[in-house]
Amino acid sequence: MSDVVLRAEGLKKHYPIRRGVLRRTVGHVKAVDGVSFELHRGETLGIVGESGCGKSTLGRLLMSLEEPTGGSLMFDGVDAFAQKGGDLRRLRRDIQIVFQDPYTSLDPRKTVGSIVGEPFEIHPDVVPRNKRRERVQELLELVGLNPEHINRYPHQFSGGQRQRIGIARGVALNPKVIICDEPVSALDVSVQAQVVNLLEKLQAELGLAYIFIAHDLSVVRHISDRVGVMYLGRMVEIGDEDQIYNRPTHPYTQALLSAVPMPDPTLRGSGRQIMLTGDVPSPANPPSGCRFHTRCWKAQDVCSVEDPALEPRPDGVDAHRSACHFAEPRVVV
Ligand SMILES: Nc1ncnc2c1ncn2[C@@H]1O[C@H](COP(=O)(O)OP(=O)(O)O)[C@@H](O)[C@H]1O
Ligand code: SF4
Ligand SMILES: [Mg+2]
Repeated sequence: MSDVVLRAEGLKKHYPIRRGVLRRTVGHVKAVDGVSFELHRGETLGIVGESGCGKSTLGRLLMSLEEPTGGSLMFDGVDAFAQKGGDLRRLRRDIQIVFQDPYTSLDPRKTVGSIVGEPFEIHPDVVPRNKRRERVQELLELVGLNPEHINRYPHQFSGGQRQRIGIARGVALNPKVIICDEPVSALDVSVQAQVVNLLEKLQAELGLAYIFIAHDLSVVRHISDRVGVMYLGRMVEIGDEDQIYNRPTHPYTQALLSAVPMPDPTLRGSGRQIMLTGDVPSPANPPSGCRFHTRCWKAQDVCSVEDPALEPRPDGVDAHRSACHFAEPRVVV
């Protein structure tokens, strides 16, 4: 078996923009526009970028919940986009999702038992009908909930507990990969660490690989083995934890890192903070060349003409992939 469980190449999702009574297509929102990466068994890949850069769309593409506009996706050696019917259903067993908002992603009219057991209705061969209640109780216990609460409803639980319910549903089918789409963003800071710890515990026990989506680099640092930074539908830098946090080479990553609130007040205003100016351009009409050139303090003429490839570039110690013509490491406090 290969060490790579998921390989995306040139993934694209363009949404048509329709206008007028004839609903003519007048353009496309390039939500994901050529994203390539691989995910190894049992690892956590963090995906970070500002709101609207295409993270959730990427997650839905990986789940085969969206019709891709282009690119390919290999899941465990199988061409995911070529699967249909029963084959697609089997593939979907192995890749699950946990959503951001535990308040809206759980059906308020269903009991916890039927929410967590729902995957068994879709994949009836996984657990025999007469064993399902027991299995659901095991899952509740696994995620730190009281198995006796199986008949309660979502509103009887706190936000953190509801996210545990969502996680129990996510692991019910023993998947290989779980996409966590901002799973702690809606939770109180005090509860976030508990949910992250639970995800880490499950990863160790069940050998799961995670794609952990967040809009903030600080959230994914602790949990990620590697991190990919997205900007306007593209991956602009990807590397291991040390490479991204200690020697980022892409100006956008450096700006995101310097935007993290500084714990030490004496360092504030020390001139090392990089302020991002200007709004994020529209993904319907991305800038030419390097998409970041309209906001980049290092931009030169070539940047608006030539699109920099995401390729290994020196970072002071070795090299890691970065999409900048002038990539150079910079220590950001
Ligand atoms: N179903 C859709 N139809 C049209 N545009 C969409 C759709 N889903 C997302 N978009 C657009 O695609 C871009 C990326 O969205 P999204 O993937 O949700 O970003 P993120 O999760 O990073 O905030 C946004 O401009 C968003 O408005
Ligand atoms: S290629 Fe140019 S505009 Fe793009 S990030 Fe690098 S320096 Fe900035
Ligand atoms: Mg999103």
